Amino acid sequence: MPEHVLTAPDTSLYEQLAAGTAPPIAAEPVSVVIFGGAGDLAHRKLLPALYNLHLDGLLPPRVAITGVGRKSMTDDDYRQFARTGVESFSRRPIDSHAWPTFAANLFWASASIDGSLASLGARLDVVEHEHGLPGDRLYYLAVPPSLFVPTVQQLDRARFIVKGTARPTARIVVEKPIGHDLESARAINDAIAQVFDEHQVYRIDHYLGKETVQNILVLRFANSIFEPLFNQKYIDHVQVTVAEAEGVGNRAGYYESAGALRDMVQNHLLQLLCLVATEPPRSLDADVIRDEKLEVLESLRPLQGEDVDTSTVRGRYEAGFVMGQPVPGYREEPGVDPDSRTETFVAMRLWIDNWRWAGVPFFLRTGKRLPKRASEISVHLKEVPPILFNRNPGARLDPNILSLRIQPDEGFALGISSKIPGPRVRVYPVQMDFHYGSTFGATSPEAYERLLLDVMAGDQTLFMRRDQVEAAWHWVMPILDRWASDSTASIPTYAAGEWGPPEADRLVRTMGREWKAP
Ligand code: BG6
Repeated sequence: MPEHVLTAPDTSLYEQLAAGTAPPIAAEPVSVVIFGGAGDLAHRKLLPALYNLHLDGLLPPRVAITGVGRKSMTDDDYRQFARTGVESFSRRPIDSHAWPTFAANLFWASASIDGSLASLGARLDVVEHEHGLPGDRLYYLAVPPSLFVPTVQQLDRARFIVKGTARPTARIVVEKPIGHDLESARAINDAIAQVFDEHQVYRIDHYLGKETVQNILVLRFANSIFEPLFNQKYIDHVQVTVAEAEGVGNRAGYYESAGALRDMVQNHLLQLLCLVATEPPRSLDADVIRDEKLEVLESLRPLQGEDVDTSTVRGRYEAGFVMGQPVPGYREEPGVDPDSRTETFVAMRLWIDNWRWAGVPFFLRTGKRLPKRASEISVHLKEVPPILFNRNPGARLDPNILSLRIQPDEGFALGISSKIPGPRVRVYPVQMDFHYGSTFGATSPEAYERLLLDVMAGDQTLFMRRDQVEAAWHWVMPILDRWASDSTASIPTYAAGEWGPPEADRLVRTMGREWKAP
């Protein structure tokens, strides 16, 4: 039996990795340099993720983590900052034995990218020398997108980067959003390409680090039951829902100029679509998988002019109730323009013009202040013929639906028809249901844990390649342009706590379908 087959699902993959019973992900000794080290992302996500990797024994044997920012802080201040981040946001609490050994790897360096990075270089050299590190570095840009290009240019000016594979190596991690539109995305990618080779660049889409998202390819290609059905012969349509109960929170500054299409569809939802629709890659090689996903993006039928009006719906939440609590409307949120035209909801119908998916509609929707946080992909199979058990037009059988639950309650379910026990033949829809939690126990690692580990191990599979980012922008641009072209067009609204505006229901109903509640 190949050694990577998980035979006993009573320990998680992470536990097996830590116990050395699954193939190790080889994270080499490295110096992690976090620009924006005292920011929200570092506090909520990066430092807790690194701490959890440490708990699992998955950090490299030697590592230094240096936060960089304008603030003047001591290393101890930074360790305290990290500790409060872990206390508030880590999936596991502080362990009094593990914390000191983790904290000893944390450092702070004050630097501004408006000035020279020379003193930062000197500090990093000392830290790395003391930790016996060879100087291989991972630069994490946890900074606003407007600082991506200046930071990369400063790294270059300071001669920190060796382009290519020569040692010491340099890797760069950038967060979404990569640009505001196709042109600005290209400008960022061009600036990065001046300094780094593409194999040194890790563009994060944190949805790709979620366990259940990684499971999409496993489900499709490690089981002979599903793949033969994933095509226009058997699939009626596919839905992707990414619903959030939260509103815009304190991110109005960013969100006002982004909106749901840029914030969620251009990246997370299109990535999910790629995984559910891709052809089988010929190997698990990062570029092979990314080539196949690119192929999906390039097969999307372009939406032009009036197609945009008939195939997309945008919406904005108004005051309402979410989980029993009254919440304000988007335009009343702090920092939001009272006349804002930013959309907080998008639904769309799209088509993948290739042999596999010809004629199968894909419906996507995402929004803030929906009734609950729930993300799911549902693959709706065609009905059985109206013969035998499906003859009564007034009581059609439920079609089979394969639901991939991304969050919360990760897992998948297959809806099938079964006979109700008894002398008469009565058919009833039942669920074959798999829950990650009950099968694998423990909490799944956070997306950032997996992604940071992969960057340290040099595996780009779960990261966005330049051409993918640009292909996704290329496809969404006509929608953005159409929406921007008429500043008087009314934007449908929905009360917070509803599933978007009624227009979103009409989008699917006109095609004889219904949204599936996740
Ligand atoms: C981010 C968006 O990329 O994803 C946020 O910028 C959104 O607006 C978030 O809330 C959702 O991520 P998750 O992991 O909570 O589903």
